[in-house]
Amino acid sequence: MHTLTPRPLMRIWMLFLWCASCNCGPDPRKREALIRLEASRRTGGNMTLNEREELLDSKLQTLMQHDIEAGPFSPSMHFFKAKRFIDQSPVFSLIQKMPKGAALHVHDFAMVDVDWLVKNVTYRENCYVCFTDEQTVQFIFSSGQPASRPRCSSWTLLRSLREKIKNSTELDNSFIGNLTLFTEDPDRDYPTQDSVWKRFEQAFLVAYGLVTYAPVFKDYLYEGLRQFYEDNIMFVEIRALLPATYELDGRLHDKDWSMRACQEVVRRFTAHYPDFLGARVIFTVHRGINATEAVKAVEEAMELQRNFPNIMAGFDFVGQEDLGRPLWYFKDALSLPEGRGVNLPYFFHAGETDSQGTDVDQNLMDALLFNTTRIGHGFALARHPVVKEMSRKMDVPIEICPISNQVLKLVSDLRNHPATVLMAEGHPLVISSDDPALFRATALSHDYYEAFMGFGGMSFNLGTLKELVINSLRYSSLPSQRKKDAIDVLLIKWDKFVVESLL
Ligand SMILES: *[C@@H]1O[C@H](CO)[C@@H](O)[C@H](O)[C@H]1NC(C)=O
Ligand SMILES: *[C@@H]1O[C@H](CO)[C@@H](O)[C@H](O)[C@H]1NC(C)=O
Ligand SMILES: *[C@@H]1O[C@H](CO)[C@@H](O)[C@H](O)[C@H]1NC(C)=O
Ligand SMILES: *[C@@H]1O[C@H](CO)[C@@H](O)[C@H](O)[C@H]1NC(C)=O
Ligand SMILES: *[C@@H]1O[C@H](CO)[C@@H](O)[C@H](O)[C@H]1NC(C)=O
Ligand SMILES: *[C@@H]1O[C@H](CO)[C@@H](O)[C@H](O)[C@H]1NC(C)=O
Ligand SMILES: [Zn+2]
Repeated sequence: MHTLTPRPLMRIWMLFLWCASCNCGPDPRKREALIRLEASRRTGGNMTLNEREELLDSKLQTLMQHDIEAGPFSPSMHFFKAKRFIDQSPVFSLIQKMPKGAALHVHDFAMVDVDWLVKNVTYRENCYVCFTDEQTVQFIFSSGQPASRPRCSSWTLLRSLREKIKNSTELDNSFIGNLTLFTEDPDRDYPTQDSVWKRFEQAFLVAYGLVTYAPVFKDYLYEGLRQFYEDNIMFVEIRALLPATYELDGRLHDKDWSMRACQEVVRRFTAHYPDFLGARVIFTVHRGINATEAVKAVEEAMELQRNFPNIMAGFDFVGQEDLGRPLWYFKDALSLPEGRGVNLPYFFHAGETDSQGTDVDQNLMDALLFNTTRIGHGFALARHPVVKEMSRKMDVPIEICPISNQVLKLVSDLRNHPATVLMAEGHPLVISSDDPALFRATALSHDYYEAFMGFGGMSFNLGTLKELVINSLRYSSLPSQRKKDAIDVLLIKWDKFVVESLL
């Protein structure tokens, strides 16, 4: 057989040889420079690490590599299924030890591990339970038999019930089930956003009767601060509904009482743990209220701001954004402070939605037009280029709560969370946990793990974490001198953490 290369092919072959030896093709130095440029833009990308931090970073990179290769990759799974894997991760245990600065987006009744509510609070004297026709429970403390509620069995004194059934393990586990969203198979149990939000609001109501009992209200806050402190957090901003609290005889206390209680508990806590900086309250109301009620709420907020300037940080709306009223509906109420020359900072939840082009989808822009200090979630921000530019220019950070967004079904695989883009371009942001108790997550560490591993994979490093923890104080509501001092304290804790993690 004749196998001589035909002439035209030969010519192409020679051209190829010539090309391979020439300088055509992309310039590798330019490529390097582009890679560095891109790295410098991401969160923490500009952070210079000292020698010890570099050492810890290389250790961290090895651990991250292991988490990625060992599989399954936790941030790609639902948190309820991923939790047991995350809990075993050495990256997670490093994050737990890391000083995390502040938690800036958490809700009042979702801060404390529900085991404490069941094992401590429901075992107190005078605790009654009733069983609703929706297979949930409600609690109340009372000195006598409480008046029964519609759609709930008659009230049973828990102490007698427990004596009767002897072994309370199953009952207590059912209470824990009622107080959290945690389930083995979240995709089966919560097929839609509305169904998971319904369970979310139900769980809130279960906690409500326990936490609004005046003595428990204070203990709950103290225990909440303790659990956050234990997770290496030094400052907390709590979005609080400040509902009326009650005594055994049914007497009610108003918002002033709750604010004074918060003040007293924070004072007591910081006296005991002097390196804890404290907590502030963002007064919240449900976004289902009407315009008249909103005027009243904003007036109350202004009064709280006047009476409790140290502990009161500002105002916000809560509840499922898609079903609630948009911010623009409340524009008259929200314009009151400006009209009266009062400074009432806003901390609006906005863009916690998948619905594009609706009135609710406008909330992000309206939050900025009302000079919001931060944006809660901002999940929809990446879809609003103008708003995104505004938030960057105004240096208004978004508060990203990865586990909450996943459990409430805005995104399933966290690698597809819009924060991946925002962090890649160094958008101002902080990481928070929203309702850790409802998700059975730690105060902040699980959310940090999900953000760190899920949003950046191997492109993140120790500088990312350092910028995130500094951001948490930089974007807090603390007055500027206290903020500066807080960051100094944080950096001392940080250096100690780095040294100890290298041992
Ligand atoms: C990073 O630092 C460089 C040089 O100091 C600066 O030009 C750039 O704007 C910074 N980038 C970010 C994202 O902060
Ligand atoms: C419940 O909590 C309170 C206050 O935090 C504490 O004093 C008490 O000892 C606890 N009781 C039990 C049974 O754990
Ligand atoms: C109570 O019941 C649980 C399971 O329902 C069981 O595991 C536990 O051993 C029981 N405790 C006692 C003291 O019998
Ligand atoms: C809530 O408690 C009730 C009564 O104990 C129980 O039947 C129900 O299964 C619990 N719900 C969850 C989700 O655990
Ligand atoms: C607003 O809500 C309150 C309380 O539910 C109600 O009394 C009032 O009539 C409502 N106002 C308007 C304008 O709908
Ligand atoms: C927002 O801030 C700008 C600039 O400080 C100010 O002109 C404007 O009146 C403020 N708007 C509101 C609603 O407070
Ligand atoms: Zn929230």
